Amino acid sequence: SAKLPPAAPLLAWYDRHRRVLPFRSQGGPGGGHPNPYQVWLSEVMLQQTTVAAVGPRFDRFLARFPTVEALAAAPEGDVMEEWAGLGYYARARNLHACARLVAGQGGFPRDAAGLRELPGIGAYTAAAVAAIAFGQPVVPVDGNVERVVARLAAEEAPLPGARPRLAALAGGFMEDPAARARPGDFAQALFDLGATICTPRAPACALCPWRGDCAAQQRGLQEELPRKAPK
Ligand code: ADE
Repeated sequence: SAKLPPAAPLLAWYDRHRRVLPFRSQGGPGGGHPNPYQVWLSEVMLQQTTVAAVGPRFDRFLARFPTVEALAAAPEGDVMEEWAGLGYYARARNLHACARLVAGQGGFPRDAAGLRELPGIGAYTAAAVAAIAFGQPVVPVDGNVERVVARLAAEEAPLPGARPRLAALAGGFMEDPAARARPGDFAQALFDLGATICTPRAPACALCPWRGDCAAQQRGLQEELPRKAPK
C-alpha cells in the first residue's frame, strides 16, 4: 500500500501559513479556542458555502444565537430567517433539530460515532467536529482532502470508486504521533493545503511542504489526479 509522508512538515507549514478565520482559534470570537458549538456551526455552514462567505455570517449567527441552548430555545422561524441567503435550507432545519437534541443531552457527543447520529451530521462533519472540537484522532475527508491524498499516493483509480481507499489512506495519518497529537490542526492544515497549494488546477507544488514526498509530483501527474470516472 502507498506510504504517506510524515505529518510534521504539514503541521510546521500550518503554523507559519494558516489562514486566520473567525471560526478558528485566535481568529475566533474573543480570540480564544472555538467551543464545540462554534466548531459545529462553522462546519455545517462550510458544507456548501465558501470560507469567505461563511466568515461574516458565522459572526452574525453567533451574535443572535450565542449558545446551543439559545439556538435550541429559538423559534424555527428565527433560525430560518438568520440562515437566509446561505441556501440549502434543510441544513438550517437540521441545525435547529440538532441544537434541541444537544441542549437536551447537556452537550455534544465527544466522538465521531456519537456525533454521526445527530440530524444533519454526516461522516465528514462528525469527523471534523470530533477532531477540531474534541481532539479525537480522526481525519475528516472532504473533496480537498481526497485530492491531496490522491496526489500524495498517486492513486490512479478514478472517483467515486477510489473514495473508500482515499478515506482509509487519510485515516492512516493518525498513526503518526505528530498528527495524533494535533488532530484539529492536522485536519485544518489539510483543508488549507488543498485550498491554497494543492489546488484542483495549477497546484503550487514548489511551495508545498510535502514537495519531496508526493508520488504524483514525482511522476508529473499532479494536474491529472484525482481522476474521475467517465459519466
Ligand atoms: N472547510 C471545512 N471546514 C474548514 C475549516 N475548519 N477550515 C478551512 N476550511 C474548511
